[in-house]
Amino acid sequence: MKVLVVGGGGREHAIVWALSKSPKVKELYCAPGNGGIASLATCVPIKATDVDAMVDWCAAHEMDFVVVAPDDPLALGMVDALEAKGIPAFGPRKNAAVIEASKVFSKGLMAKYHIPTARYETFTELEPALDYIRRQGAPIVVKADGLALGKGVVVARTVSEAEEAARSMMADGKFGAAGSKVVIEECMTGPEVTVLCFADGEHLVPMPSSRDHKRALDGDRGPNTGGMGAISPAPGYSPEVARRCMEEIFLPTMAALKAEGRPFQGVLYFGLMLTPDGPKVVEYNARFGDPECQAVLSLLDTDLMDIFLACHDGTLDKLEIRWKASAACCLVLASGGYPGHYQTGYPITGLKEAGETAVVFHAGTKRAEDGRILTSGGRVLGVTAVGPELKSAITCAYHSAKHITFTDLLFRTDIGRT
Ligand code: AMP
Ligand code: GLY
Repeated sequence: MKVLVVGGGGREHAIVWALSKSPKVKELYCAPGNGGIASLATCVPIKATDVDAMVDWCAAHEMDFVVVAPDDPLALGMVDALEAKGIPAFGPRKNAAVIEASKVFSKGLMAKYHIPTARYETFTELEPALDYIRRQGAPIVVKADGLALGKGVVVARTVSEAEEAARSMMADGKFGAAGSKVVIEECMTGPEVTVLCFADGEHLVPMPSSRDHKRALDGDRGPNTGGMGAISPAPGYSPEVARRCMEEIFLPTMAALKAEGRPFQGVLYFGLMLTPDGPKVVEYNARFGDPECQAVLSLLDTDLMDIFLACHDGTLDKLEIRWKASAACCLVLASGGYPGHYQTGYPITGLKEAGETAVVFHAGTKRAEDGRILTSGGRVLGVTAVGPELKSAITCAYHSAKHITFTDLLFRTDIGRT
């Protein structure tokens, strides 16, 4: 098969890496890809959000299957556009991807189908939002409705911080149209867990649990980022909690989407909080998480192409998906200054040595004409190691990462330890 993966980060490198092991995949492409992906797939210089150019290229090059990995092209309807040209694709259609693209939609779905989540109200006007914040008191959480690069959520410790967040989203247009509606919700407490699930519109199969580390600095301090590291499985996600999540959250969500005429095919991402009152949904995403994907796919023991095909064909219930009885840790190496301002273009050394004990997924890298690999983004690499249990996987990821150097290298020293 000729397969194209859309995207160019660490998550897409992990997907390309897994697909490259499939005997079914004869030709592998990635658009736009990155410096590491280029060693496994042919990179195609089309932006992930350029739906028309992507679909035209796929038609012209007779792709047999397309994997749409990032949120933006899903929300823009890339899967629908590919289907309209008869090109099979992995990922939800636009009407199902809205579960991530609109928090107003996802909160409404949970309320209608009694899926446990934080209590909330939706606002389109600033004054009632401010009134609500003052009446509820702090801590309280203010969320922009739309996609805001993971930065549209403010967990406010004080009423004035929450008021400020609502003002910047609703009056100052900080996130443009994404912030013209806001969701204000109860602040929940408890450990966070990600559960990614394969879904075929009807059936759903959870992958091993994982945990992202979103804050930039050790001890969960500093600004929110796209994710500084991930482990799998997540401590605290016991078989009993998993059973409750399946019964109270995962299956009801799949059924709700189907009942609403929005069957979900692709990866359904459950961001959960294990609160004292039981597991509750923090957020849904319509795709693999990054960097959770890098850790979780490292544990997969089944051909990923077979899984993607089963999701597309609606036959997930017929496929046995196997996982290694191991643990994984993905440690993100970032550019100093990320998620704020940072410099790029620095040469990276030690990739080969690190690759002897871990898999180094590239996120923000590019290949220079002389063959050197240079930094080209905020999150640069995800050093991903597998071990018999979490402790050894974490130790191995840090040990492997020691070989890698580039100017202004930044990483957290406590991935998997918080
Ligand atoms: P989100 O983009 O919705 O995942 O939110 C980003 C982060 O904000 C989450 O990973 C949580 O740590 C935190 N968060 C979001 N909603 C809540 C909530 N209702 N209570 C407490 N923390 C939250
Ligand atoms: N790791 C969080 C996300 O991908 O949204």
